[in-house]
Amino acid sequence: MNNNIFPTNGILERASKELLLGQKGICIWFTGLSGSGKTTIAIELEKQLNLKGLLTQVLDGDNIRTGINSNLGFSDEDRIENIRRIAEVTKLFVNCGIITICCFVSPTNEIRAIAKQIIGEKDFVEVFVNTPLEICEKRDVKGLYAKARKGEVKDFTGISAPFEAPLSPEMELNTANLSAVESARLIIEKLKL
Ligand code: ADX
Repeated sequence: MNNNIFPTNGILERASKELLLGQKGICIWFTGLSGSGKTTIAIELEKQLNLKGLLTQVLDGDNIRTGINSNLGFSDEDRIENIRRIAEVTKLFVNCGIITICCFVSPTNEIRAIAKQIIGEKDFVEVFVNTPLEICEKRDVKGLYAKARKGEVKDFTGISAPFEAPLSPEMELNTANLSAVESARLIIEKLKL
């Protein structure tokens, strides 16, 4: 850390912003394979929460990787940096009182631990979208599984790069059995939102 950096004090605190909004900031962190349904559930969850008058922000892999993280690839190192930056951004939203819904493959325990550490344990709710690989691959919405099988996409999670199932997620959803509407409802119920 640079010795000439002095963090600013006196910025309006989180509690004042939460009072203004009438809600509490929280991060709902979806982890799961590409095509598992993270973003689809997030979009539905955001819709349901907004109908309840709650302010939300969805952050999603493909969007973040075309913007703030457009210089990053899928090496282990780049995935860690991807999640580190995302977690810092998430923390800003959460401290603003916003329900922040994160949709990132975040494939390893190490990567998710980094996110949790930055965002803060009490603000971090891990949801494992545990849709089996065969189903994600069958859906292949983006055509990436087919490309990965042909070797045209390297280090593809689930095919040529690892996905470690989370050890103790707050919730686990399998979109083979649950619709996005049902999944979103279950999350709202569980978190009492
Ligand atoms: S993460 O592993 O660093 O958390 P992130 O969620 O940001 O990944 O991005 C994943 C998305 O990038 C996938 O949904 C997919 O559309 C795209 N993608 C492109 N190449 C890869 C790859 N090699 N592995 C995984 N996803 C990839």
